[in-house]
Amino acid sequence: MILAQLSDFHLSSTNPERTERLARAIGHLMAQDPRPDAVVVTGDVADRGEPAMYAQAAKQLSLLSMPIFAVPGNRDWTEPFRESLAPWCGQVENGFLNHVGEMGDLRLIGLDSRRPGSQQGQFSPQSKAWLEARLAEQPDRPTVLFLHHPPFRTKLRNGSIGHQIEGVEALEALLRQYPNVVQILCGHLHRIYAVPVAGIIATSAPSVAYQAIVEHWHEKEDADIRPTATLHYWTDGQLISRLSW
Ligand SMILES: [Fe+2]
Repeated sequence: MILAQLSDFHLSSTNPERTERLARAIGHLMAQDPRPDAVVVTGDVADRGEPAMYAQAAKQLSLLSMPIFAVPGNRDWTEPFRESLAPWCGQVENGFLNHVGEMGDLRLIGLDSRRPGSQQGQFSPQSKAWLEARLAEQPDRPTVLFLHHPPFRTKLRNGSIGHQIEGVEALEALLRQYPNVVQILCGHLHRIYAVPVAGIIATSAPSVAYQAIVEHWHEKEDADIRPTATLHYWTDGQLISRLSW
C-alpha cells in the first residue's frame, strides 16, 4: 500500500501561485498508477489563518479519492482549519487537533505539535497523555506517527542548532516503549531530512509551496521548484519513502 504525504501548502491570498502548486500536487497524486491508498497532510495549510485559504485547500483536497488525515502546523489557526477540513481532521480537545486514522493494517496517529504564539512546537502534557493512551490501545499494530514539527535537532531561525519541539525528551521516552512505531512523518522544514528518533526513522517532507534554503533558514522561494509529494510504500513491515513530482 502507498501512503502519500503532502505538507506545508502555506496558501495565501497574496501568493495565488501556491494554490496552483497544491492543485498540481493533487493532480499528480491522482495520476499515479497505482494511486496512493491514503494521504497525510502534515500542517501549515494556510499561511496567515485566512478562512478563504482553508476553503481553497478543502476544495483541492476534496478532489482526492483516497482517505485524508490532516494535522495543523504552527501557521494554522484552529477554527478555520477545523471548519474547512472537518472531514479529514480530529475534534478540538484541550485546544489541540489530534487525529487517528488507518491504512490497511497500518495505524496512523496524527499529533498536533503546536505551541500557541510560537513558530516552534511542543510535546505538551495534554499531548503526552493523549498519545500515551492511543499507543496503549494497539501496542502491537504497526503505527506511523505524523506531526508538523520534527522531533529532531535542526538549524533554528536564530542560526543555532536545537530542537523544534519543547518537551521532545518525553516523546522520545514514550516512543522507546513502542517498537511498533515504524516511522515518524513531519513537515515544517520545507526540506527532506531523515534522522533517527528513539531508534525510529523520522523524516521531514518537502513543501508543496516552496523549499527552504537550509543554510540560512530563510524562506527564500524557488520559483523553479516543483510541488512535491512524498510517497511512503508500506512493504513487508517497513515504509520505503521517496519523493515524487
Ligand atoms: Fe511550520
